[in-house]
Amino acid sequence: MKGDERWGFSTKAVHAGEIRYNEYGSVTTPIVQTSTFIFKNIEEIKKLAAGAVERFEYGRYGHPTQLAAENKLAYLEGAEDAVLFSSGMSAITTSLFALLKSGDHIIITDDAYRRTLEFCKKCLIRFDIECTVVKMCDYEAMEQAVKPNTRLFFSESPTNPYLNIMDLERLVGIFKDRGILILSDSTFATPYNQKPLEYGVDIVIHSATKYLAGHNDLLSGVVLGRSELVEPIREYLKITGGVIDPNSAYLLIRGLKTFDLRMKRLNENGRIVAERLEKHPKISKVYYPGLPSHPHHDVAKAQMKGFGAVVTFELDYDCDQVLEFLSRLKIINIGPSLGGVESLITHPATISYYDVPREERLALGIKDGLVRLAVGIEDAGDILADIEQALV
Ligand SMILES: Cc1ncc(COP(=O)(O)O)c(C=O)c1O
Repeated sequence: MKGDERWGFSTKAVHAGEIRYNEYGSVTTPIVQTSTFIFKNIEEIKKLAAGAVERFEYGRYGHPTQLAAENKLAYLEGAEDAVLFSSGMSAITTSLFALLKSGDHIIITDDAYRRTLEFCKKCLIRFDIECTVVKMCDYEAMEQAVKPNTRLFFSESPTNPYLNIMDLERLVGIFKDRGILILSDSTFATPYNQKPLEYGVDIVIHSATKYLAGHNDLLSGVVLGRSELVEPIREYLKITGGVIDPNSAYLLIRGLKTFDLRMKRLNENGRIVAERLEKHPKISKVYYPGLPSHPHHDVAKAQMKGFGAVVTFELDYDCDQVLEFLSRLKIINIGPSLGGVESLITHPATISYYDVPREERLALGIKDGLVRLAVGIEDAGDILADIEQALV
C-alpha cells in the first residue's frame, strides 16, 4: 500500500492508500464488484480458520475497494485507522451502538445534525441510554451536564445551518481528564480545513457524501481515530451491515483525487460569496465563519485553515417568497446537500423541516427567511450574478 506521512496533502489525496502495482497493473484501484470471495482450495479455508492469513471473505466484512478508500482517508485525516459506511448516518448510529451500553449517559449539542439528535433522543433512550442536550458552545452547561455514567460527548463543528464553531481545545479540556470520549462530526470542516484528532478529540466522523466524495453522486460515511476505538466499531458494522458498496467506494476514491484542488476552490468561493452577500441590501444577515461578523470567527480562525463553502443567509421574506426566489435561480440547483461541485441551495423551513410545526421549527432557530447555500466550484461571479437576478 502506498503512503507516507511526510507527503503533502494533494499527494496523499492522489496516491495514499492504494496499491502501487495491483494484480492487473491498472493505475486506478479496481472496483471489486462481488458479494463474496471464493476459496482456491481447502488449505485456504484452514488457514483462514486458524487466523494464519488475512484475506477477504464476504462483502459485508470488507472488500478491497473499501480498504483502499479507508487507507486514503486515514492518511488525509492523520488517523491511525478508518472505517467506511454506506452513509454518514450509518457511521454515526453504528459508532454509538458500538461504544455505548445500557445505563450509559451521553451529552450532545443542540444544533447537531437533526437526524443524529433524533437518534440520540428517540432511539438510544429505548436501550436505556440517557441523552442530555446542551446548547452549542455553552461550555459551562457542558461541564455541568457530566454525570458519573457519562460515556461520551458528541458534537459537530461547524454546525448546520448557522456554522457555529466548537472550541476544540476547550472541549478537550472539559472531557478528556474525566475519561469521557469525544466524538466530533467534522463533515462541514473536512480534514482539509480542520484536524480535530490533533486537539485530542477521540473519534472524527464525516458524512463522506459531502465534501470528501465531492460530486453529489454517492452516499457514504467514515469513522476515524485510534485503532483501539475504530476496531470495535468495524466489528459492529459487520453486524449492523451498513457497508459501502464497491462502486461507491471507487467513486469516493476518484472524488478524493481532486480533494485538495476542490477544497482550495470551495474555500475561496465560499469567502467571495459570503463577503459579497453580506453587502447586499436585500440580505439582512449572513452566517459564515470566515466573516469577522460571525460570533465564532476568532475560534474558527485559530483552528481552521479555511472556512468551507456553506454560506447561510436571511431574507426578510416569508416562506412563499423564499421559494419564489429559489425558483428564479438558473444555475444554482435547489436541493438539500453540500460539498459537491454543483452549487445547491436549500430553504430549511420547507425542505428539511417541512414536517416540524412552525412554532417548534422557529424555536430551533429555523426562520422562514433562512436560506442555506452550498457553494460549488463554478465561477464565483456567475453564482453571485445568479443570486442577484433572482433577488428581484
Ligand atoms: C453534519 C452531518 N452529519 C451527518 C449527516 C448524515 O450523512 P448522510 O446523509 O451521508 O447519511 C449529514 C447529512 O446531511 C450532515 O450534514
